[in-house]
Amino acid sequence: MTTLDIPELALVALVGVSGSGKSTFARRHFLPSQVLSSDMFRAMVADDENDQSASADAFEALHHIAATRLRRGRLTVVDATNLQSHARAALVRVAREHDVLPVAIVLDVPEALAWDRTQGRADRTFGRQVLTRMQRDLRRTYGLLAREGFRKVHVLRGVEEIEAAEIRYEKLF
Ligand code: GTP
Ligand code: MG
Repeated sequence: MTTLDIPELALVALVGVSGSGKSTFARRHFLPSQVLSSDMFRAMVADDENDQSASADAFEALHHIAATRLRRGRLTVVDATNLQSHARAALVRVAREHDVLPVAIVLDVPEALAWDRTQGRADRTFGRQVLTRMQRDLRRTYGLLAREGFRKVHVLRGVEEIEAAEIRYEKLF
């Protein structure tokens, strides 16, 4: 079992390619109300969780709700790929503005597995090259997370490690 220590109040960024299991992990370990997913916010602003043209508006709304939750002292999990530096920087900024620790949980599965899973989903229609690009972005991300301000970086490699992970909350004081 891998124990992931997380402060009781944190902004948790899930990081992983499409099909790595972020939403599944979020469902398993957190309350539905703690999880802000990019899909949910795209649907909220555009009635379509895959409408990429809605991403800017969706993330603006997501960051706003994340900020509100942190101001109120609620642990918040961001379920998005978080593979781009600028996307992660926005989360670190929101966390810092509220004196909350930003934490990253990276889910790293073999690209072939993520692709297999994606092909089995009616709600994902992108091509293989999109996944390959995400995988490349993930490789780059490893060297950046700590520098970007994530105070804890938990990396789960492979399905077994992901499935065996447990969250343990650290008391703040
Ligand atoms: P995007 O939302 O596209 O970025 O993907 P995601 O990272 O949220 O992946 P998601 O959690 O939706 O997982 C995709 C599929 O993989 C799910 O429908 C599950 O069937 C399968 N899956 C995800 N996590 C696990 C896991 O831990 N174990 C097993 N056996 N299957 C998993
Ligand atoms: Mg998902």
